[in-house]
Amino acid sequence: MEGAPVRAGAWLSTGGPEAAPDAVHVRKLAWADIPAVLALQEASPGAARWPRGDYERISRTGDTSTPARSCDLNCWVAVQAQQVKGFLVARHVADELTILNMAVSPDRRRCGIGSQMLEVAVAWGRASGARMAFLEVRESNAEASAFYARQGFAPSGRRKGFYTDPPEDALLLSRQLT
Ligand SMILES: CC(C)(COP(=O)(O)OP(=O)(O)OC[C@H]1O[C@@H](n2cnc3c(N)ncnc32)[C@H](O)[C@@H]1OP(=O)(O)O)[C@@H](O)C(=O)NCCC(=O)NCCS
Repeated sequence: MEGAPVRAGAWLSTGGPEAAPDAVHVRKLAWADIPAVLALQEASPGAARWPRGDYERISRTGDTSTPARSCDLNCWVAVQAQQVKGFLVARHVADELTILNMAVSPDRRRCGIGSQMLEVAVAWGRASGARMAFLEVRESNAEASAFYARQGFAPSGRRKGFYTDPPEDALLLSRQLT
């Protein structure tokens, strides 16, 4: 996404793990990352609780984007000092990118990691032909709403009773990618 903030003290690199020791490297989910992703989910009440099997499936298939397919799931992890500090799951269908789930480790929030992962997902969506990005967020999740607003997402609807446990409406947010 354009204008993503880069902060001092956290090298926001998509370069390789060979970059500065505190560099944040965003790469696709690997099988070995799954326990760390599940732990991040547990530590992040705002994130959706996906079962292990969902991540296993994504990890097995990876990005299966081919001209013959019109729907693909992808998951990236943000790695710093060899530790998974964030994850983001997105789906591309036709000309839409949907952010399905994301979280950053509580001890590494407000350091630009979420922005960096979103930038990678948006670049993938654009390259796959997406013209709009969508996501749902719990109405009470002020932290995530502030983050998405900063990234150019605007409210475009409400899904009544979308969430359970606890029950809550979802705000539908969208952003043009073209
Ligand atoms: C939402 C989330 C992924 C953001 O990740 P992050 O790495 O902390 O985000 P960034 O550091 O890239 O934040 C960029 C900007 O977003 C906004 N922002 C992020 N967190 C914010 C907060 N708690 N309060 C206000 N603004 C916030 C700010 O404008 C911030 O820039 P600034 O720090 O210079 O003010 C993270 O807060 C998180 O994991 N939350 C719990 C899980 C969750 O709610 N997931 C969303 C499911 S829909």
